[in-house]
Amino acid sequence: MQNYFYFLIFVTMSESISIPVDKDKRSRYEALLPQIVALVEGEKDWLSCTANIVAALKEGMDFFWIGVYRVAGNELLLGPFQGPVACLRIGYGKGVCGTAWKENKTIVVPDVDQFPGHIACSSLSRSEIVVPVRKNGEVVMILDVDSTKSNDFDTIDALYLEKMADLISQFI
Ligand code: SME
Repeated sequence: MQNYFYFLIFVTMSESISIPVDKDKRSRYEALLPQIVALVEGEKDWLSCTANIVAALKEGMDFFWIGVYRVAGNELLLGPFQGPVACLRIGYGKGVCGTAWKENKTIVVPDVDQFPGHIACSSLSRSEIVVPVRKNGEVVMILDVDSTKSNDFDTIDALYLEKMADLISQFI
C-alpha cells in the first residue's frame, strides 16, 4: 500500500473521486483535474456541470466557499455554489468579483480587509481568489473561492482554477 491515504468523495450515486489527502496543493489539483474532466465529459448542461464541478472542487480542495456568479445584465447573479449562503447580486465593478469582471482578469486577495470595497458575504472569509470565465474573450461568469485563512491562494490556485474556468466555459 502507498504511504499516503485516499479518501472518497461521492460525486454521484455511481461515481467517486479519489484525492491524496497528504499531498501538496499542486498534486491535489493534478489528481482532481482529470477526474473532473471525466465527470462532465459528454454532458452539455452548464448548470448541472458547474454544480458538480464546484462540488468536486469544494470536497477535493477543502475550500471554505466556492461558487460562480453569472453575468446578468449589469450585475452578477449567484449560481451553483458550495458553502455558507452568499450575496445574491454583485454590481459591475463592485467587490472582488465585480472588479475581476470589469478588469477581465484573475484577482488574488491575500487579505480581504486590504481590498477596497470587498464584499463580506461571510465574516469568516480572510482571503479570496476570483477567476473570470470567458466566452469569446468576454466575461460571462466569475469563479470565486474564499478561505478562512489569510494568504491562502497563490499562482498554483490561479493556474488550476483558470483551467476549471475554461472547462466551465465549454458548457456556455
Ligand atoms: N467577496 C466577494 C463577494 C462574494 S462572496 O465572497 C461569496 C466580493 O468581494 O466580490
